[in-house]
Parts: sequence; C-alpha cells; structure tokens
Amino acid sequence: MTTHAGSDPELQAARRRTFAVISHPDAGKSTLTEALALHARAITSAGAVHGKGDRRGVVSDWMDMEKERGISITSAALQFDYNGTVINLVDTPGHADFSEDTFRVLSAVDSAVMLLDAAKGLEPQTLKLFEVCRQRGLPVITFINKWDRPGLDALALCDQLSERIGLQPMPVTWPVGIAGEFAGVRDCRDSTFVPFRRSVGGADEADPEVLPDSAAEAAHGDDWTTARDESELLAESGGAFELDSYLGGTATPVLFGSAVSNFGTRHLLDLLVDVAPAAGPRDDVDGHPRPLADPFSAFVFKVQTGMDPVHRDQVAFARVCSGVFQRGLIASHGTTGRPFSTKYAAQVFGQQRSTVETAFPGDVVALVNARALHVGDTLYEGRPPVRFPELPKFAPTQFAAVRPADLGRYKQFRKGVEQLDQEGVVQVFTSDARGPVPVFGAVGSLQFEVATHRLEHEFSSPVRLDHLPYSLAQLLVDPEQRNLIRPVGRCEVVQRSDGVDIALFNDEWTVRSIRREHPEVQLEPLMGSGQ
Ligand code: G4P
Repeated sequence: MTTHAGSDPELQAARRRTFAVISHPDAGKSTLTEALALHARAITSAGAVHGKGDRRGVVSDWMDMEKERGISITSAALQFDYNGTVINLVDTPGHADFSEDTFRVLSAVDSAVMLLDAAKGLEPQTLKLFEVCRQRGLPVITFINKWDRPGLDALALCDQLSERIGLQPMPVTWPVGIAGEFAGVRDCRDSTFVPFRRSVGGADEADPEVLPDSAAEAAHGDDWTTARDESELLAESGGAFELDSYLGGTATPVLFGSAVSNFGTRHLLDLLVDVAPAAGPRDDVDGHPRPLADPFSAFVFKVQTGMDPVHRDQVAFARVCSGVFQRGLIASHGTTGRPFSTKYAAQVFGQQRSTVETAFPGDVVALVNARALHVGDTLYEGRPPVRFPELPKFAPTQFAAVRPADLGRYKQFRKGVEQLDQEGVVQVFTSDARGPVPVFGAVGSLQFEVATHRLEHEFSSPVRLDHLPYSLAQLLVDPEQRNLIRPVGRCEVVQRSDGVDIALFNDEWTVRSIRREHPEVQLEPLMGSGQ
C-alpha cells in the first residue's frame, strides 16, 4: 500500500486500526469479518475468510476437528485498505475454552468490537472477553447484530451495557423499526436515515442511500419518531458521544446492523477510522514506551503449527511495535539473543497466504517456519536489546496427568508435549513426585481434545489422560513452602514450564483450610481465575 505516508513508521502507524471482534459463538463474528472485508473489496465472495459448512476448505487434521464441531480454533489476521486507512482485523477463537488464546490476541490489538446478537444481548463469553478488554484498557465499540430478525428492544440492550458491565452506551446509529421489522438506522450524528438493504450474499458495494430527517419521517412515521426520541433520550441522559469516554473505557459507541446483509458494516468501518485508536507506542518490560520511530521491534502473540497439512510448518504471529519491518531483515530474538531471519514472512488471510515485504507498527506478520519463536517472545533490530512484557498465563481449572499409550514412542511424546506447551495449547506442569509424567492444565476441556488429537496425529504418539481432582491453581510465592501444601489428592505443588511453582487444589475449601493451618503460606491468584 503506497501513500504519502511512505515508509515513515509514525505516519504509517497513524493510519492503522488494529482491532479484534469479541463475541459469544454464533453472534455472527465470521459473518461480520467477511462482511467487513467484502466491504473493503478485499475478497470477492463471502466465505473466503473462514466460513462454515461447505464454505470452509480442509486445511489440516485438527481443522477437521473444528469443522466437525463448527467452531473456530485458529486465528487469522486480516488486513485491508479502507479509504486510505489500513484495517488490521485480528480474529479470535470463538469458543470459551480458548479464552487464554483470545487473551493473547487481545494483547496484540489497540481496540475491540463487541458483537452482540440482538436476540440474546450480553452472553457469558462476551462478558468474559469484555473483562479482558477492560483489564487491557482496550476501548470497545458495540455492534448489535441480526437486527433483521426478531430480538430484544434497543433500549433494553443498551440498559444491559450500563447495568451489567458499567459501560455508558453512546448511540451512533439507532434502529428504525423493531428487530425483525427493520426499516433502517438513524445516524444520530446528523439525524439522517439510512434505509435497510439486504444485499445478496452481503456483496453490496454501492454507496448507501441517505435520506434527510423529513423524508424519513414521511416514509416511516411513528417508527422514525420513536427512533429519534429514544436515541435523543439516551444521548441526553449521558449517552452523547464523547471521544475521551470511549478511549478511557467508560463508554461504548453503539451501532445496529445485520452482518449477514452487510448492513451497518460501513458505519462500523467509518467509526473505526474516525475514533478507534491508531497503533501507538508499546511499553517495554520496564514500562518505557518504545517510540514508533525506533528500529523494528515486534512481539509474538500466537504460535500455531500444522496450518499447512503438507508442510506441518509452524507459524508465529508477531505484532509490529516499532520501526519498519522488511522481509529478510535479521532481527535479534529477545529470549536467546540469537539472530532470527525473517525471510519467510507472510500475511495469513483465512486459508490464503501472501508474502509480506514491508510492515509497520500495528501490523501482524506471520513468520513461517519459526520454530525458535514462542508466545511472548520479542524480536528487535539494533541496540540496546528490547523486551516487551510477557503475556500472563491464565489459571487453568482442569488438570490431567498424561502418559504415552506406547512407551516406544516416548521421544515423540516428549517432543509433542514441548511443542504444545510452547504454543500455549495447554499448560504443562511437572513435579519431582510425578517424575516423567507431565500434567496438562487447561481452561476448557476442548484444549485437552486438541492436545491429544495433535499428539496422536502430528507426533504419532497416542496418549492416555488421567483427570486429576483439582480445579484451582494458585502461585506459590516461596518454593520453601512446598511441603505445607498437602496431602496429595487434595492439593499438590507442580512446576510450570517457566519454572514457577503452582499449587493445585481440589476446591476453595482446601485453600482455606491450608491457609488456616499455615497462615504464613504465600499464595497468589493467577490471571483470569476470578479469585
Ligand atoms: P460466529 O462466527 O460468531 O460463531 O457466527 P457466524 O458468523 O458463523 O454466524 C452464526 C449464524 O448466525 C450463521 O447462521 C449466520 O448466517 C447467522 N448470522 C450472522 N449474522 C447474521 C445477521 O445479521 N442476521 C441473521 N439473521 N443471521 C445472521 P447459520 O445458520 O449457523 O450458518 P450459515 O449456514 O448461515 O452459514
């Protein structure tokens, strides 16, 4: 993409919007992704990103597993140009069991779009992901989807935002006609009316019709005046658009639409361009923002293997934080200090890849065959070395001891376990007491399924899982206190692969009784545990 911004990283960063869509499964995330890309004319037919059913091509064994279950485990980073702004949409896995993965993706974006199903409102997975956005300080735009079919009342949906998550809704568009009898939206900024058009396959590229207030009133009478009254009432009661409240995370602009009809997506893109934060400087591990104009730096937020079934290659997704990325540059690898060649850099777009020659802050680069890279690693050019903060690990809630079904394949088993740990598919724990038998920790049971499936099919090492009775994990601050955590069966201490001691407990009651017996024991909650 060539513009006047040339290769100036600051100018290029300023025209980038890097965001993720958070939603409950089935709210329409894949459909919205396709509609957005289509709108920007990035793809020619809906379904090219990662649609469901027949639209999805077979990519790998475990993607077969996704297909069977109709879930999306893999992430894609989608880049397209929209009227001179570069939109980077980083996809998140839809299933709650992969919330740790989603968290990592959210560490690589500058804002989020919260997608709600008009008939369901705020659903559990959305709430969980929203909390992550809040922790990360990400500003959130809300898109209320599926207005083309019966759903909840617009004001009731907005009340959910303020009452359940404390976010002030700021209507940017407002539906005319109840859900299911959708006439279009009122643009609250200038009180114009955009009539609802259902475009075949969402492929409408024509400029939408925009009518003045008077014409809308003549055509839609009460529906129009109700829409005007409701949205004005909300604006007057604290919901008038304020950029600072959005950026500060206390309020959310709200849009209504229908992703499947590609209606409302233009409003969303325009709003992202107008108000969403551009790629900004990122804090390093010491809390110092690394200037955008400094030499190239990036951090790896996701590692994935087996995206290409023929090559079984490993792809590391890195977000560029400063400088200019030129394919082929030799960066330093923060963890080992070793040089890392970026010769095989790509953009992964759904199931397509294209070579990336240049990238700027805010962009996501897929580094192919990057076996040395792990989640959380930093890459940088020049001196002094750069380290971005590590990505926190979630508190697993399910645990299982893992043994190879065939001891003759022990080497493959070890290799596979190490790989899964590095990718963050599961967390891997060991302990002296358990010797060579590792323990897998997961937030959701699908993680175990992916792990066992991959060990069997990628590493030819079928495994046996023995589920352990633990449901709670806490950090044990002082390793000297290990012997206080007993008896095994109700609790035990294991070591995470980064060397940290983690205490596993059956339940809250066990934690309390240990604290009572040994008030000196130092335990700390882990991320995402809700403890
Ligand atoms: P997800 O990625 O969030 O899981 O959701 P996805 O886009 O797959 O959408 C879930 C279902 O909701 C799909 O129907 C999709 O067509 C439908 N959908 C998405 N947006 C809208 C909308 O604006 N209006 C209506 N009425 N439906 C919408 P499906 O029957 O499960 O799949 P498909 O056969 O249509 O692909």
